Amino acid sequence: MNTLTIRRPDDWHLHLRDGAMLRAVLPETARHFARAIIMPNLVPPVVTGAEAMAYRGRIMTALPEGADFTPLMTLYLTEETDPADLAAAHASGLVTAVKLYPAGATTNSASGVKDFDRVRPVLEKMAEIGCPLCVHGEVTDPDVDIFDREAVFIDQVLDPIRRATPGLRVVMEHITTSDGADYVRSAETGLGATITTHHLIINRNHILVGGIRPHYYCLPVAKRETHRRALRAAATSGDPRFFLGTDSAPHVDAAKETGCGCAGCFTATNTMALLAHVFEEENALDRLEGFTSLHGPAFYGLPPNEATLTLTRSGTPTAFPAKIETGDGPVTLFDPGFPVYWSAP
Ligand code: DOR
Ligand code: ZN
Repeated sequence: MNTLTIRRPDDWHLHLRDGAMLRAVLPETARHFARAIIMPNLVPPVVTGAEAMAYRGRIMTALPEGADFTPLMTLYLTEETDPADLAAAHASGLVTAVKLYPAGATTNSASGVKDFDRVRPVLEKMAEIGCPLCVHGEVTDPDVDIFDREAVFIDQVLDPIRRATPGLRVVMEHITTSDGADYVRSAETGLGATITTHHLIINRNHILVGGIRPHYYCLPVAKRETHRRALRAAATSGDPRFFLGTDSAPHVDAAKETGCGCAGCFTATNTMALLAHVFEEENALDRLEGFTSLHGPAFYGLPPNEATLTLTRSGTPTAFPAKIETGDGPVTLFDPGFPVYWSAP
């Protein structure tokens, strides 16, 4: 097969940042993706409906002429979030979902939730109005090994929240373990998961063997190979509970290549080509469209995109840029470490 035409994809988990970085990375996503769930972990975070409205405006201003792209805004859940403000922002169509970061779990998560009982009223309001909760599923307890933090979060935090809040729709963001995939499969309704492109490609050896590779460091950190295989199985299974959320998370090289480097892989530019490669390897090209373009809209109750994207397979490896330039400095593009013959226009 040398071309593959699918409905235009959506990215159900994306970091666009702000200012010069936003202007540089937004065109990379808008080229291929029709919509994206926009992460609210700016400094300071996007907490209120008014802040989401202002951020949406800055994204629309940064869009290239003629681009067809809709940002789906999220609010950053804090212990001070006002259920009424959220409900109004959701009812107006401005806000699509709410993001839960356990405090300290990742980049700019200091305002996240420490005491989950304090957000009960917001979660109950969300269940009532049908606003999904996007979850960064890692505990932050320093006694829990970083490679176990997803599994422990499911048992200690996520499952209790879901049991206590019937009807709450939850997306486990960027799952990285077979435990995450199994937990999603165990739920009858109201639970989905996003999977990133890079977690389908790298395991923890890629980060640490033969020298430390800061551009492969992200959170949740990539796990051992058995987990990567489990993620590939889930993504290519056709199960509608699994869909693409790239978690493309740009940081300038100076912030990655340093003594304490930031977490995040920047994949917006080559994600669709890499996914075609992965799905072809798994003999599942016929399921790529479900993963990138159908399952996510179904979970969020939105129509799939009408426009299409055609991927092409050529006889020579695709030349992707090593970096994209931004007003804040260069950002290194995720390098899969193998030649990729697919490309997207
Ligand atoms: O690797 C990551 N980068 N994981 C996150 O959860 C946050 C993100 C970022 O904002 O850089
Ligand atoms: Zn993220």
